[in-house]
Amino acid sequence: MSTAWTPQGAQHRSAQREGTPVPPALAVDGLAKRYGETTVFADVTLRVAPGEFVAIVGESGVGKSTLLNCMAGLDHWDAGRVLLAGQDLSALDDDARARLRRQALGFVFQAFHVLPHLDVGQNVALPLMLLGRHDTDAAVHAMLEAVGLQGLAARLPQQLSGGQLQRVAIARALVHRPGLLLADEPTGNLDPGTAARVMDLLIAQVRAHGAALVLVTHSEAAAARADRVLHLTAQGIADAPR
Ligand SMILES: Nc1ncnc2c1ncn2[C@@H]1O[C@H](COP(=O)(O)OP(=O)(O)O)[C@@H](O)[C@H]1O
Ligand SMILES: [Mg+2]
Repeated sequence: MSTAWTPQGAQHRSAQREGTPVPPALAVDGLAKRYGETTVFADVTLRVAPGEFVAIVGESGVGKSTLLNCMAGLDHWDAGRVLLAGQDLSALDDDARARLRRQALGFVFQAFHVLPHLDVGQNVALPLMLLGRHDTDAAVHAMLEAVGLQGLAARLPQQLSGGQLQRVAIARALVHRPGLLLADEPTGNLDPGTAARVMDLLIAQVRAHGAALVLVTHSEAAAARADRVLHLTAQGIADAPR
């Protein structure tokens, strides 16, 4: 890869040596979310260190997607706060929040959300374009190679399989080297064999980039590879028995 970068973990350790405090990649404090009288979750507190891989498990409907959307500042909450790379999302206006999200975050969804009218290369280049960078070719090429899609830059999404679409989404989520990747059941729409290969790729790429990962998953195999597994319930979030 031509662009110079420092793994977040290494950055973290060297900053610690120099005595500069490094904020968590993500901090969530006492977060609560309600729809009218219905509480989705009441008191969610967690920290994700730079480079850390945290899996979140929980029953369907318990609020995992809602929580991830709050972490990204894409949904509203009723109490508590979310700090992304040390910045309190509540203190930012919509524009500043969007800028921070573009710079500091990658997101991978169960349903891929690859833009249908852009080709593969354009989809992967999008986060860089949104950051005002126009020299995207080398970074896009390197990302496509890293996810095994070299040579497919000119394909349209409709010409790809589900596994290939999710590889495009992974490349797009990491091309701008965010400190944190949020992934919401990223292999939930794939057959078991493809799911296992895409999960391997996702985790390997996150590690290679030194990014922190918050992964919502029903896959026990994937959760077993996390540094920590947290169980979300209506009462809050806690370490899951392993
Ligand atoms: N707009 C909405 N109005 C009311 N309830 C909602 C709305 N969106 C989601 N919910 C409810 O919030 C809960 C959490 O949903 P979700 O975050 O998708 O759960 P999970 O991802 O864990 O399956 C569900 O019970 C769902 O029905
Ligand atoms: Mg969900």
